[in-house]
Amino acid sequence: MAGRIPDSFIDELLARVDIVDVVGERVQLKRSGSNQHGLCPFHGEKTPSFTVSTDKQFYHCFGCGAHGSAIRFLMEYDRLDFREAVAQLAQMAGMEMPENTQDSGPQQNHAPLYALLERADRAYHHWLRQHPQRQRAIDYLRQRGLSGEIAQRFGIGFAPPGWDNLIGRLGVSDDLQRVGLVIERDGGRVYDRFRDRIMFPIRDRRGRTIGFGGRVLDDGEPKYLNSPETPVFHKGESLYGLYEVLQADRHPADIVVVEGYMDVVALAQNGLPRAVATLGTATSTRQIERLLKTSSDIIFCFDGDNAGRQAAWRALENALPTMRQGRQIRFLFLPEGEDPDSLVRSLGRSGFESRLQQATSLSDYLIERLEADTDMQSMDGRARFVEKALPLLQRLPPDVYRHMLCERLAGLARLDTDYLEGVVDGRETLNRDQQARRREPTGSDKSGVRRTPVRLAIALLLQSPALARLVDEVESLRGLDDLPGLPLLVQMVELARNEPHLNSGAILERFRDSEHESALWKLATWDHLVPAAGLEAEFADAMEQIRRITTERRLQHLNERLQAGTLTTDEWSEWIRIKQTGQ
Ligand code: UTP
Ligand code: MN
Repeated sequence: MAGRIPDSFIDELLARVDIVDVVGERVQLKRSGSNQHGLCPFHGEKTPSFTVSTDKQFYHCFGCGAHGSAIRFLMEYDRLDFREAVAQLAQMAGMEMPENTQDSGPQQNHAPLYALLERADRAYHHWLRQHPQRQRAIDYLRQRGLSGEIAQRFGIGFAPPGWDNLIGRLGVSDDLQRVGLVIERDGGRVYDRFRDRIMFPIRDRRGRTIGFGGRVLDDGEPKYLNSPETPVFHKGESLYGLYEVLQADRHPADIVVVEGYMDVVALAQNGLPRAVATLGTATSTRQIERLLKTSSDIIFCFDGDNAGRQAAWRALENALPTMRQGRQIRFLFLPEGEDPDSLVRSLGRSGFESRLQQATSLSDYLIERLEADTDMQSMDGRARFVEKALPLLQRLPPDVYRHMLCERLAGLARLDTDYLEGVVDGRETLNRDQQARRREPTGSDKSGVRRTPVRLAIALLLQSPALARLVDEVESLRGLDDLPGLPLLVQMVELARNEPHLNSGAILERFRDSEHESALWKLATWDHLVPAAGLEAEFADAMEQIRRITTERRLQHLNERLQAGTLTTDEWSEWIRIKQTGQ
């Protein structure tokens, strides 16, 4: 695993490159005021609604909502992953990627671990051919219908019975423990983790062994034993069989995701070398992203039982952030009691293949689930349907795919598509009456962001980070978590004050993948209509209002404690101070 790229490097990078150059090389831009405009490369349009801001160092499309820093632009436009996009920008800026985060070449500090895993791999392999007890293992593999050729392709091995076969061969070392091949007993003595098991090496994309799965030969427990998480083995990112799929075909038309090691191997044995398995965990977004780099069509193949349906739904939720036009994710549910291994053996290759082709699309499966136990004939039922759909739609990136799914769901719910998309974006609320009532006192402009002092302060800061110097102290604002957004505002002020060189894009980049990411983007691109000359006054005013509100809340809290007779001495003096000075 490559290390994390430090924030300081990203900050410096975003300070050095100009997003206008990055975008300008790929999209034709025209200058207007301090911004550049052009046709959005992320959705089809005839009139430009795509803007790139020099001051803020980010892009934003008013049409489809696409937005981001220079890094995000490269990720989306050139279809790079985060690290690749950073590396490319670093090259443009003449900066060298920080050490230990390079993606090429084996990690120096991990090299001994890979070497050890490789030696273990060879030992298990050897024992399947040479060990006196090997016949039981060979018989087992035969009985499961595997040929020697397939066993070879997957590097299947045998860990013989006994507590120290591997230790005897590789010697005890800290590294052997670090790669999870031995277990430490209470007294500090160690013994082999895998004993009397069929061994499945788990390889990374480049074919290096990073861990193992071991299956018992009878019906002992646990049926499968896996390597623990180690410096080189991360279950949430790795996929069993991906290397072997790539060996068979660098560009498979589709990839099938199954639950078990044996399913992967059995499918390959039966002429379907396109399956991978997760390692006893739910399919993660990172795993799906990784698969989508190999093929744009992924088919999840789960057991028809309850556990399988649950796993499928988890996979769907985790797939949503990766969904965009041109990608296809489908679901195949197997009959109760069958798994891909048993089914491919009874149906054969073409029978299984035709089942795969009938898999349900992600959108059909999603709708089917939302409609279950919902009466779509009644208005209440349709409202419930939309309510359930909303958090799922909000996980989708703004893209043609999201638009089309909104259109379909809106049709089913008999709603206007624009309105549904507005709700998804947070420009509208589900309950129109409530929204109308809320609008009166506070006011909200056509962008749909409701104007509150906290929101305005965050938006102004994000758009002009230099305003942070106007704030004397934030200590008194801490701990007042009940005012929505206040902790975030405090965080923002501190960031902008401590690191005054950060531009808007760099600040937003710090919140990548955080729960606040989408809210912050909304505020960063919000047209709050404050003229440049009035920014300072408006910001100071918003902060003043926030202080007033927080003081009121604090006083209210103290009053309650006063009446309950539980005020401490410190709280007494605070109560008196607020009463006298108003703050
Ligand atoms: P299953 O129990 O469905 O086994 O576990 P299977 O793949 O059909 O195995 P066979 O056909 O009996 O050999 C599916 C996956 O769940 C994980 C393994 O990754 C397994 O491949 N698992 C299962 C474990 O990690 N530990 C266990 O004890 C059982
Ligand atoms: Mn099975």
